[in-house]
Amino acid sequence: MVTSKENEILKGENVGDSDSAIGVVDLKKHFVSKNESENVKAVDGLSFSIMKGEIFGLLGPNGAGKTTFIRMLVGLLKPTSGQILFNGEELNVNSAKLKNVIGYVPQEAAFWKDLTVYENLSTIGTTYKIPNKELKERIDHLLDGLYLMDQKKKKASKLSGGMQRRLNLAMGMVHHPQILLLDEVFVGLDPQTRNYLYDYLRDFASKENKTIIITSHLMEIVDSLSDRVGILDLGKMLAVDTPENLKNTHGKGDILQLEIDKDFDDSLVSKIDKAVADVSIEKNEQNLVVKTLNAIAKLPEILNIVEAEGFLIQDVKLTKQSLETVFISLTGKELRV
Ligand SMILES: Nc1ncnc2c1ncn2[C@@H]1O[C@H](COP(=O)(O)OP(=O)(O)O)[C@@H](O)[C@H]1O
Ligand SMILES: [Mg+2]
Repeated sequence: MVTSKENEILKGENVGDSDSAIGVVDLKKHFVSKNESENVKAVDGLSFSIMKGEIFGLLGPNGAGKTTFIRMLVGLLKPTSGQILFNGEELNVNSAKLKNVIGYVPQEAAFWKDLTVYENLSTIGTTYKIPNKELKERIDHLLDGLYLMDQKKKKASKLSGGMQRRLNLAMGMVHHPQILLLDEVFVGLDPQTRNYLYDYLRDFASKENKTIIITSHLMEIVDSLSDRVGILDLGKMLAVDTPENLKNTHGKGDILQLEIDKDFDDSLVSKIDKAVADVSIEKNEQNLVVKTLNAIAKLPEILNIVEAEGFLIQDVKLTKQSLETVFISLTGKELRV
């Protein structure tokens, strides 16, 4: 079910709002395959808005169109058709104004391998005309936070893979952009840097009303970091909402599997079904399978009924509702394909 607000967003009706940082209207990118036999609809008619100060997670499996979408926003790919608006107005994607507004961290390396870490950051900083003293301070702050200070004088090519990913991040952030576009940046980060990045991005978005778009196929990250999530598959946006609302609207709820000590019949199933509100329950061999929102809260009530009917529970397995269950219910397939 699509809510009216969601519908409005999916149709892109608020793209011109003053609190919209990025709006796209019927944005498409179709590629023609090499032998021209196939038209790949990488992005196929996206219309929605990303608000100022928001962390927007674009979630979708490999090939969904996430990178193509981001590359159009930063002017690296020309849309087949459609509109892109920044702060409510259509800007030339190659304009200098836009370059200052946007920070882009691509999936692939975006630094000079033969320069040192410091040289990379100071070179990119100079292109943004950041005054020397301020640039030095910003670089130190980033290197500190990204645990790269010890690598400051090392050539980028000599860094480990994880360090290179962190340098990539710093390259996209040094000019303190208003809108930050991060394409799969959480891949290959160690837990410490991952945590730092979480905090940094939250801070970055909330303090100065900055906007962040993260693309990822990692649903745990998108779930915990994003204010709103767009679920993309085969170039189309299937739903846009807060992680919580997505789970409540499209999710199948938590799944509780209760292994019962002996054979039972449908009368146990219907007793629970009648007594406990808003559950869907079925028998699967020795298991009672209960699907419901907030299953933990309902567990004691269910256990009481099972025991009152003379059964014992041998094992309990809980699968918490997640964006994965949302994705499955929207597409019928798993996210990690
Ligand atoms: N330059 C290109 N030429 C032809 N097809 C492309 C090109 N770039 C991407 N695609 C295709 O577009 C679809 C979306 O790719 P992409 O945007 O990279 O997805 P994601 O980032 O979500 O993994 C895929 O089917 C991919 O093969
Ligand atoms: Mg990608």
